[in-house]
Amino acid sequence: MDYLLILRRVATWKWIRDQYTRLEVPSRDLTGKTVVITGANRGIGNEAAKHFAQLNVKHLILGCRKVDAGNEAAQRIMDTTGCSSVACWPLDLASFNSISEFATRIQQENISVDILVGNAAYMGLNYVQTQDGWETGLQVNCLGNFLLTLLLIPHFSRPSETVSIPRVIFLSSITHYFLSRIPEADAPNILAKLNDREHCSSSLMQQRYFVCKLLIVLFSRELALRIDADIGPTVVVVDPGYCSTGLYHEIAPTFFGRMLQVVTDFLLARTPEMGSRTIVHAAVHGQSKDVHGKYLDTQKVERESDYALSAEGVAVQRRLWDEIVDILKQVDSRVESIVRTL
Ligand SMILES: NC(=O)c1ccc[n+]([C@@H]2O[C@H](COP(=O)([O-])OP(=O)(O)OC[C@H]3O[C@@H](n4cnc5c(N)ncnc54)[C@H](OP(=O)(O)O)[C@@H]3O)[C@@H](O)[C@H]2O)c1
Repeated sequence: MDYLLILRRVATWKWIRDQYTRLEVPSRDLTGKTVVITGANRGIGNEAAKHFAQLNVKHLILGCRKVDAGNEAAQRIMDTTGCSSVACWPLDLASFNSISEFATRIQQENISVDILVGNAAYMGLNYVQTQDGWETGLQVNCLGNFLLTLLLIPHFSRPSETVSIPRVIFLSSITHYFLSRIPEADAPNILAKLNDREHCSSSLMQQRYFVCKLLIVLFSRELALRIDADIGPTVVVVDPGYCSTGLYHEIAPTFFGRMLQVVTDFLLARTPEMGSRTIVHAAVHGQSKDVHGKYLDTQKVERESDYALSAEGVAVQRRLWDEIVDILKQVDSRVESIVRTL
């Protein structure tokens, strides 16, 4: 069972020690800054949004697919932090159209983005296709997340010499280390193969979330290579650590699975609030040169997986970039010129 598989693979002393490490609460003042965070109606994203609100941001935009839940979350954050400018904007990462509309609204309202956190994620074990024709995990975690980032690139504030903002923060996970390679790299088109319903057996779908989190590492590294952080946003990937949230509900569906999750949550999990400190840290910590294109874990720079660093991993990273841009150009015509100007 997948949840057990994850536990067996993560349970090293370093990981356990990190889980118990008390993380710093970032305290940098963000007066005048605008933060966009996806999937912030619950979980780690919601806690990160509360921290950003306490750092005096000018605008906090929660991109949520459940607008009622998002509006309630926004109101709760304003009530508890005193921040007066928190809003929920509709955003369904399983719909390219919804992402394009979100980006158009940013453009129409002339918003200058300082921090974008691509937090929202989906973890499922079954092959379910979105209306856009993509396997849901692949679209929500990767293609949708990447489309949003690319469309917002022209709307980031300019970096200043003293402040190492703007930033794009991607969320990855220890699970990206579990893959010794992506077998679909042998196919002529990696994403088409990953999306092929016939190819996606149930055993393969058990690893889909891991693959998505690896693709996030590869995409963010390639994006960082293409962005000069003196001109555009600093790109950082962060692992918030294992946290007790609703993320694992679908993969621990049995009574035994749930009990195991309750016990491991109790013994090992960070609270979502503790995990959220890693996101805010990634958004404000250090100079751009120290973190641009880097992977942060437990508020420190760590090396990515051996596969991500291997010659094949780097080659796959370049191929994936081309494939992703080819797909996203078709769904939103702005992508082509944005990528050309990187
Ligand atoms: N929890 C962990 O142990 C852990 C470990 C490593 C990395 N992470 C990463 O941390 C991030 C936050 O995870 P979490 O544990 O807080 O997860 P979570 O509690 O399950 O929250 C996920 C968020 O994503 C949103 N979302 C899902 N599908 C969406 C879609 N199609 N469009 C827009 N939003 C969507 C959810 O909204 P709804 O309420 O509408 O479903 C929810 O707000 C994820 O990127 C995850 O991969 C988590």
